Amino acid sequence: MLTVLFLTLQEFVVVLCEPKVVPCYFIFGDSLVDNGNNLFRETTAKVNYMPYGIDFPDGPTGRFTNGRTIADITAELLGFEERIPPYVNATNGDFLRGVNYGSGGCGILHETGRQLYKLYDYGARKVAVSELGKLGCVPQEVSAYGASEGSLCVETSNNLVQIFNAKLKLVIEELNYNLGDANFVYVSNVITSYAQLLGFDKPIQPFATASGSDILNGVNYASGASGIRDESGMHLGDRISLSGQLINHATTISHLGRLISPPNTVNNYLNKCLYTINIGSNDYINNYLLPRFYRTSVQFTPDQYAEALIQQYTLQLRTLYNNGARKIVIIGLGFIGCIPQELANFPTNGSSCVNSINNNVQLFNNRLKPLIDNLNTNLPGAQFIYINTTSISSGDPSAIGIKTVNAPCCVVSSSNGQCGPNQVPCSDRQKFVFWDNFHPTELLNQVTATRAYNATLPSDAYPTDIRHLVQQ
Ligand SMILES: *[C@@H]1O[C@H](CO)[C@@H](O)[C@H](O)[C@H]1NC(C)=O
Ligand SMILES: *[C@@H]1O[C@H](CO)[C@@H](O)[C@H](O)[C@H]1NC(C)=O
Ligand SMILES: *[C@@H]1O[C@H](CO)[C@@H](O)[C@H](O)[C@H]1NC(C)=O
Ligand SMILES: *[C@@H]1O[C@H](CO)[C@@H](O)[C@H](O)[C@H]1NC(C)=O
Repeated sequence: MLTVLFLTLQEFVVVLCEPKVVPCYFIFGDSLVDNGNNLFRETTAKVNYMPYGIDFPDGPTGRFTNGRTIADITAELLGFEERIPPYVNATNGDFLRGVNYGSGGCGILHETGRQLYKLYDYGARKVAVSELGKLGCVPQEVSAYGASEGSLCVETSNNLVQIFNAKLKLVIEELNYNLGDANFVYVSNVITSYAQLLGFDKPIQPFATASGSDILNGVNYASGASGIRDESGMHLGDRISLSGQLINHATTISHLGRLISPPNTVNNYLNKCLYTINIGSNDYINNYLLPRFYRTSVQFTPDQYAEALIQQYTLQLRTLYNNGARKIVIIGLGFIGCIPQELANFPTNGSSCVNSINNNVQLFNNRLKPLIDNLNTNLPGAQFIYINTTSISSGDPSAIGIKTVNAPCCVVSSSNGQCGPNQVPCSDRQKFVFWDNFHPTELLNQVTATRAYNATLPSDAYPTDIRHLVQQ
């Protein structure tokens, strides 16, 4: 089993200037979506140093990856022009700062094809787009596939690139034509790296730098190392468990009561927001799989443990519902038995992953669909959806240019599996599934977020994807 995804060449997704369909977006979860909530806490699960954020406009921010998280990309897909602030910042400040609800200029282009290619939108109407170079001539490609007869390059790869480039040009022309004030520029003959692309647009400020951004847009409560169970991640230090995140949400709601008038419409406002929850990985990685620190593996069989997690999760989701949430996205767990940390800690018995871990985690995932069916049936107006990361990450990784599925891109510290401070990471980050020993690269986040938003396979999202959920 591989932790990666399959995308065909044609699947570059273009989402243009969708008017913002939800007024607010609240994010719950762990380090997969934490955007700085752990920075002021006593914990080793804190990554405010290079090379974290090497591909993020602001550099290291506390995000546990090289670039954007799934939540960042989801917010863009929803049409938010500013990033959703971490809760720690949102409570500090000037809640009353004006909000721009305008929906102009939110062009977002997402290419997730085979090529190592990204288009990045700053909500600023200016996007420089580099065409792909002759990828079939780069040494890795030639050594992997062999040069074509009579050529020094892999011509099939070059042909694919040409098809892609031609399509790209058309897309850009269309964008500029359809959006009167758009300024998309096609840049030829550059073998682009994401960093170069970022360098290109540096002068354009991607998001408001003010702290305490307006909570009316939503808040990110996610905390690295946190879990469904309160004790998960404890050995790493302080963190905000899902229950703690829900308490923080209640505080936000009390602030909203002062911002929205009349106050009795707050609930109506909360009903319209989108909520996503990425949680549960640490209940395995930083709990059940660490018998040295936690007793759960002797207290519960894998099946009992999955059931105990679901029981607690059910109560937490009901709490969220009782606080006005209706459109709630539950993101399933990935193949934890394939992450470099577990590959280093457990025998694989000749397999590419630790299958017993994947099987145990699947016991949890398998219960999510019945869980949301139950909630949708029993809670009036509830619209829970389930994102099936198993479906999204199945398939041939090389189809999108990934070469390394079992090792991290950065140089990890042997003590904690996170990137060592200021160590130079791999330069070809589009070829890696993993950024450090635990977390996916931005490339993978992009695939997950894009397919959660606009499902490629029917099994990606149940009963519907985010795009349809927010329109209901
Ligand atoms: C959704 O994805 C499909 C390809 O899977 C694409 O054709 C379509 O344009 C996408 N729609 C939106 C709104 O992103
Ligand atoms: C949050 O606040 C801290 C401390 O003031 C600041 O360093 C950080 O940039 C802020 N983050 C955001 C996203 O505004
Ligand atoms: C390794 O695989 C073999 C063959 O599938 C199986 O019989 C054995 O129990 C496995 N060992 C472990 C430790 O999983
Ligand atoms: C998730 O996707 C996998 C692989 O495509 C599929 O076997 C499974 O049935 C899906 N699960 C749900 C709950 O839809």
